[in-house]
Amino acid sequence: MISRAAAPTGRGGGGEAEYAFRAAGEWAEFGAVLDLAYGGHPHSPAHSAVVGAVFEPKRSLVACYGGRPCATLAGYALEMTLPGGPAPVAGIGYVAVAPPHRRRGLMRELVRRALTALHEERGEPVAVLHSTEPGIYGRFGFGPASQVVELSVPPEARAFTGEVDTSGLTLDVGSPEDARAAVADVYRACLHQRPGLLHRDAAWQRRAVEDEPERRHGAGRLLCMVVSGPDGEPRGYALYRLRPHWERSRPRYALSVREVFGRDPAAYAFVWRSLLDTDLAGTVSATTRPVDDPLLALLDDPRSAAPTVRDQLYARAVDLDRALTARTYSAPLDVVLEVRDAMCPWNAGRWRLTAADGGAECTRTGAAADLALSAREIGAVLLGGGSLVQLAHAGRVAELRAGALRAASAAFRHDPAPFCPTAF
Ligand SMILES: CC(C)(COP(=O)(O)OP(=O)(O)OC[C@H]1O[C@@H](n2cnc3c(N)ncnc32)[C@H](O)[C@@H]1OP(=O)(O)O)[C@@H](O)C(=O)NCCC(=O)NCCS
Repeated sequence: MISRAAAPTGRGGGGEAEYAFRAAGEWAEFGAVLDLAYGGHPHSPAHSAVVGAVFEPKRSLVACYGGRPCATLAGYALEMTLPGGPAPVAGIGYVAVAPPHRRRGLMRELVRRALTALHEERGEPVAVLHSTEPGIYGRFGFGPASQVVELSVPPEARAFTGEVDTSGLTLDVGSPEDARAAVADVYRACLHQRPGLLHRDAAWQRRAVEDEPERRHGAGRLLCMVVSGPDGEPRGYALYRLRPHWERSRPRYALSVREVFGRDPAAYAFVWRSLLDTDLAGTVSATTRPVDDPLLALLDDPRSAAPTVRDQLYARAVDLDRALTARTYSAPLDVVLEVRDAMCPWNAGRWRLTAADGGAECTRTGAAADLALSAREIGAVLLGGGSLVQLAHAGRVAELRAGALRAASAAFRHDPAPFCPTAF
């Protein structure tokens, strides 16, 4: 596919006049824009089948130039664990603009249209996305709602603090395909452990265990470790791969972990113990672990694992009142928020949020505001991960009534921290 555009007519000049927007068609047409936008990596037929199976063309948008798609936004109807339980959320992915059409406002227009449609159709109250770069989506009211740590455990730092009783547990290793039912069972059982986890039907489960040969970069195929209890019921699993590496004639294979879940502390510890004790392995690394991963409390020497924190999932309130009442709070709350929201102006203004045992309420109010903040800060605390106190110390939340900040910050926080290992 070749993508061509006339020279821009000025900043944002490519907007409505030259471009037509419509719902997406076939995945192949959508994928052709992604191929160009992400640097000329065509999707293999196998990968297209996996991502095509979760693709929702009616919820996805394309911008066309001269009748040909040149920009994309994929929309997904998802169910995510929020503080308090599962709720529908709108996933956004594959926001991409072909090179000749960039910096003309197409991404902005696609995001604006997607959020406006969710608002007008009373769709999911919360939108979530994974961002290739952290600097992109704040301007659209998305805040970094979860963080992850990257870990690298060297061979000399594998010891655990104390013994873990793993008696009665057994271990199997095979392909994710062989372990498909066990992986799905354990994931389902762990779904409500943390905010951020997404319900996976069969198609999303296949996406989670996808093993593209082109992305192995010298490593072997994806392997699956399953831990079962004495009754044979699967209790934990890990998805991982090994890349051969030798140092001075000694095996120091790089073991990289994609995903680990355990239904209980013993199964979780046993999966990690087994990963760390894998024969031939040198450093065991994981790029995407929850910021409060229990592994950090299991390791005797977590410092050697050099945890590096980064932003992960971005969230946004589509409709502020429905978003703030889709979750529960960690403490009783009664606060008036003065909200700025340029992209979704229906959210702007003053809202009273109350939360008690019976649930949360959020209504418009004329009362004096306690906190002033923008949609982006709301997004950062929506899943229970960010800290309003931290944002206030950075000058991004203003406390207008003494004491309101601490109370609201504590109520919004959730333990354990949010985490979303599903790519979309
Ligand atoms: C990132 C991408 C989608 C931007 O599309 P675009 O149509 O050029 O973006 P727009 O013209 O609508 O830009 C809107 C705003 O975002 C800013 N912006 C665009 N790309 C950005 C980037 N990579 N980093 C930071 N800001 C960015 C623009 O400067 C503009 O800023 P403004 O608020 O001051 O006006 C496009 O460059 C692309 O396809 N990149 C490769 C794929 C990718 O990274 N996609 C993101 C997926 S999460």
